[in-house]
Amino acid sequence: MQIYPNHFSELDSTNRLLKELAGEGAPEGTLVSADRQTAGRGRLGRTFFSPEGGLYFSLLLRPADVSFETTLITTAAAVAMARSCDQMLGDDRTRVKWVNDIYRDGRKVSGILAEGVVAGTQMAVVLGIGVNLVAPAEGFPEDIAHKACALYETLPAGRTLSALREEFLSAFCNAFVPLYEALPDRAYLDDYRARMFLTGRAVHYEKDGRTHEAAVTGVADDGALLLLEKGEPVRLAAGEVSLTFEN
Ligand code: BTN
Repeated sequence: MQIYPNHFSELDSTNRLLKELAGEGAPEGTLVSADRQTAGRGRLGRTFFSPEGGLYFSLLLRPADVSFETTLITTAAAVAMARSCDQMLGDDRTRVKWVNDIYRDGRKVSGILAEGVVAGTQMAVVLGIGVNLVAPAEGFPEDIAHKACALYETLPAGRTLSALREEFLSAFCNAFVPLYEALPDRAYLDDYRARMFLTGRAVHYEKDGRTHEAAVTGVADDGALLLLEKGEPVRLAAGEVSLTFEN
């Protein structure tokens, strides 16, 4: 896949702009990135805090096989993100929380929002990712301060933010494109499973207007979360779970 980069210092949302470009026929590999967003979108209709210090980008995918659900693309992106974070920091400690969150030391460092777009008869996926590279000087907002983190507390000596952004983006593209192009090969899911810290833990989630309590048993080959609920196996194809006991 060829990457067609488009960089902006500020945008409302890279996903919003790329969806518009997708509707106008932009090719697969179109990349929109920004230094900050004024209306960054998260999953489940939330906003995504997107100050200077992070990297916010969206990549346009036009999968030949539409059975590649966004959940599967999200898991491939999560593995590529985890590998990119490890590469930047020179360790192997990056973890994933099903399905789209990237964690370092028990805190979220990055989130992924893959959105399906239908334009005419063509289906596309806008893969949007935000990563906190350097912690905001004024700290994270109070509501996320206890659960968010950045790759670096302060800008590493001798580096610039724009160089870090470029380095990260190229690490991500190098990690993600081979996984995406190899689909339906799902060998990368083993890495996802190895990094997933929910397995074996008690979680709860909301579905059909009520709270469900369950234990996570693993991740299926289509990226769905596997759970044991009241002794019965359950599959969660999409959604969000929370740990019942934080530690
Ligand atoms: C989440 O954690 O809920 C997903 C967050 C996804 C945020 C990224 S930042 C780049 C792209 N543009 C957006 O508006 N959202 C995604």
